Amino acid sequence: MRKVGIVGIGHVGATVAHLIVSQGLADELVLIDKKPEKVASEALDFSDAASLLDKHIDVHVGDYPDLADADVVISALGHIHLIKPDGDRFGELKANLPMAKQVGADLKAVGYNGVLLAISNPVDVITGIYQQATGLPSAQVIGTGTYLDTARLKRVFGEALGVDPRSVNGYVLGEHGASQFAAWSTVNVMGQNARTWAAEKSLDLDKLENDARVGGFTVHSGKGYTNFAIAHAAVSLLQIILSDARKEAIVSHYNEDFDGYISSPAIIGRAGVVANFDLPLTPEEQDKLAASAKAIQTKTADYS
Ligand SMILES: NC(=O)c1ccc[n+]([C@@H]2O[C@H](COP(=O)([O-])OP(=O)(O)OC[C@H]3O[C@@H](n4cnc5c(N)ncnc54)[C@H](O)[C@@H]3O)[C@@H](O)[C@H]2O)c1
Repeated sequence: MRKVGIVGIGHVGATVAHLIVSQGLADELVLIDKKPEKVASEALDFSDAASLLDKHIDVHVGDYPDLADADVVISALGHIHLIKPDGDRFGELKANLPMAKQVGADLKAVGYNGVLLAISNPVDVITGIYQQATGLPSAQVIGTGTYLDTARLKRVFGEALGVDPRSVNGYVLGEHGASQFAAWSTVNVMGQNARTWAAEKSLDLDKLENDARVGGFTVHSGKGYTNFAIAHAAVSLLQIILSDARKEAIVSHYNEDFDGYISSPAIIGRAGVVANFDLPLTPEEQDKLAASAKAIQTKTADYS
């Protein structure tokens, strides 16, 4: 019995729910949103699809007591209209911070002890708030972080070389935001490092890195939100967790060195982060990671 909850059924939450339903990734899916009519309509819409699906799934509107025995709760709550075209995800902090505190407290009150996967922005900060408010071990509270930014880097680098993005390995590290960076020492395609490819093919790595960094806002500028890629990122992590895959994945997770949440790869399984490891970064990349952690702290103070 796989039970999943989603809190916040807006553009992102509804798309995550749709992937879970259409791919049969859970047996029970609990939907929570502060807009009762909206979430009731979403649940009914999914129920109307029930006879057309390959697999049975119980989708229903719920409240926090329904999440007490859930395996994974996904936070997709937010206020996307507060993100301006300038691309600063901290525009949502003032609105999302009290919501995350409350949802975290509600989960704690019902004794929730599963994995909490946060999507809500600014995701590194909000994930940390969830950990504090739920009191869960930090390993059980993770954020999608730069999983999506890494996918965007794979898209732009794959396009530059004319290969499927799944042929690109490597990471965007740091904040899910402006201070993130492509760790080029980790980026390899067909067994060859990104810098060697850049020299051979005259690729502008700074441009490719920036294209990945602003990718979300390129999508946002046309439709006012992003939903498909982030939903696939969240569901990819959900599958890793539910199947206890112990797979390497990049997530926002607690980093002792910086005493905060920031993205670097970890081994993910049923209990969240089940093992940590240090990437062999260059000294310059280590400095960029530290600077990104500092940027998250500074912006949190500025916007709070
Ligand atoms: N991490 C990423 O890579 C990434 C990518 C895309 C979007 N996001 C973030 O995901 C969040 C959702 O985006 P969206 O486009 O779906 O936003 P949206 O505004 O369309 O939907 C947010 C939903 O959350 C609900 N909500 C707000 N507070 C709530 C609460 N306390 N309890 C229950 N429901 C609550 C709202 O009623 C709304 O239905 C935003 O914070 C957005 O920035 C993150």
